[in-house]
Amino acid sequence: MQQALYRKYRPEKLSQLVGQEEAVSLITQQIKKDNLGHAYLFSGPRGVGKTSLARIIATQLGCDPTFDITEIDAASNNKVDDIRDMNESVNFIASSPGQKRVYILDEVHKLFLLIALLYQ
Ligand SMILES: Nc1ncnc2c1ncn2[C@@H]1O[C@H](COP(=O)(O)OP(=O)(O)OP(=O)(O)O)[C@@H](O)[C@H]1O
Ligand SMILES: [Mg+2]
Repeated sequence: MQQALYRKYRPEKLSQLVGQEEAVSLITQQIKKDNLGHAYLFSGPRGVGKTSLARIIATQLGCDPTFDITEIDAASNNKVDDIRDMNESVNFIASSPGQKRVYILDEVHKLFLLIALLYQ
């Protein structure tokens, strides 16, 4: 089966990320000290590795891709009910075999727009 190039070449380890030294060094230190934050907001131009870094962190935490990592396209799941669904799914954390669970809200700036509009 054909695989898109961005999937084929997506870095899978921190050492494979080109550049982003500050982010990589911070995350490496925090993983070593078991001192990761509850949430990270990655911003930057297109294609610099934001989604890749989020997935690498989840993997480094020992998360199982099927059970422990939930990736949400916040650009298309930006309705209040979508967020309610996500909140409800967090309650199932006890049934997950992993110690940690990671939610990746891709394109989260679209969600911020919704929140900004709601609070106007
Ligand atoms: N820092 C990097 N080191 C190595 N490869 C990278 C890096 N950044 C991006 N790439 C390559 O570009 C592809 C897209 O990267 P990624 O999806 O992580 O970028 P992004 O910052 O999330 O982009 P977007 O803003 O469009 O969501 C990856 O599959 C990978 O092949
Ligand atoms: Mg991305």
